Amino acid sequence: MSFTNQEKSVDQPRRWALRGDLLDFTAAPAWGDVESAAVRFDRDHWLLIEGGRIVGRQAAEPDASWVRRDHAGQLVLPGFIDTHVHCPQLEVIASYGTELLDWLQRYTFPAERAFADPARSRAGAEVFLDALLASGTTAAVVFPTVHKVSAEALFDGAAARGMRLITGKVLMDRHAPDGLRDDVAQAERDCIDLIDRHHGQGRNAYAVTVRFAPTSTPEQLAMAGGLCRADASLYLQTHVAENRAEVAWVAELFPQARSYLDVYERVGLVHERAVLAHGIWLDEADRRLLADRGAQVAHCPSSNLFLGSGLFDWPGAPFAVSLASDVGGGTTLSLPRNLAEAYKVQALRGARLTAWTALHAATRGAAEALRLGDEIGGLSVGQTADLCVWHWARGPVAAARDAVARDLHERVFAWMTLADERNLAACYVAGQRRV
Ligand code: GUN
Ligand code: ZN
Repeated sequence: MSFTNQEKSVDQPRRWALRGDLLDFTAAPAWGDVESAAVRFDRDHWLLIEGGRIVGRQAAEPDASWVRRDHAGQLVLPGFIDTHVHCPQLEVIASYGTELLDWLQRYTFPAERAFADPARSRAGAEVFLDALLASGTTAAVVFPTVHKVSAEALFDGAAARGMRLITGKVLMDRHAPDGLRDDVAQAERDCIDLIDRHHGQGRNAYAVTVRFAPTSTPEQLAMAGGLCRADASLYLQTHVAENRAEVAWVAELFPQARSYLDVYERVGLVHERAVLAHGIWLDEADRRLLADRGAQVAHCPSSNLFLGSGLFDWPGAPFAVSLASDVGGGTTLSLPRNLAEAYKVQALRGARLTAWTALHAATRGAAEALRLGDEIGGLSVGQTADLCVWHWARGPVAAARDAVARDLHERVFAWMTLADERNLAACYVAGQRRV
């Protein structure tokens, strides 16, 4: 194998076959079911891959015309989809001592200001995208900064790696320090230019990116809604109802709105391509509205625990729930680590999250909520070959636990609870080996 620095991939044949224990989903597992017909587990099977797509899935060894990658005895999953993560916040991960609003002022905004420098934006995007791949994440919905160049750097870096990326310049025209504010007219021009040049190009898609209600004027929120109304293929990403002080501030800033979510609803931002992070402090009317609009909540368990934000009410959520790291509020890019934290969040609420519901939310569930279910999130014929191979266990403790698992759910649950990026054996994006 040769390594081409420019494309950052190990040369992979156009036509090849992967052997391993294949696990994905054919539907959404019901809450609480440890035995579920929605789980498709094919032990010791082969995936046939050609031109970056899955073209076959079979028990029989393929004929000699297929180049083989033999991962027998390892777990093959669809690449993970991180539906909410901040590229410029890698350096403020694990910052001590605050809740959301103070954390933004003290750590986050200073780090984001540095991305005004195009060289810093480009270097930051490279490190970030490589770190996602090294964690087994092949698709992501990403916040850059307010600077146009920071979105551009992510689009270019993702294209060089063949990744599925959804991002857009952050909109923020008030309540942010100098160097981090835009204005409505310039922001609109920047968005339109980025949409024209990147939305739908290869695997890149544009998300209208409202940071959160407090950092946009009503005029800027209206402009963002106008962009979404003009092109229904655009995504929307933002934060909602994460922290109690934040919710109280939004109520002061928007006294005419029924709720925090209603601030977005009034300008047309709650739609079927909307990804709203957190959604902890929503009432039943808000939760119903999200479902009616077909919007999704990106649940960010490690961030919610680290920033002391609260415990997300997942069971019975009428809307789609996906899984997200929210680094740097979150403390790890690894989605297996976040799945383990999601289990603990539900345990604190007296509920039980199965490995199936958790893994589904990080793969097929996220893909469908993003309206990308035909392309990503599974290991079906016709889907893009974004997939990761995982060691079932790393180290003697995990190996001993794995050895005594009595059924598939027990085995996968122990994997999800103990695994991290060190379990990753290989990561393929559109059939190309990237890790
Ligand atoms: N709300 C507004 N901005 C942010 C951010 O950067 N991280 C988190 N966790 N919440 C936010
Ligand atoms: Zn966030």
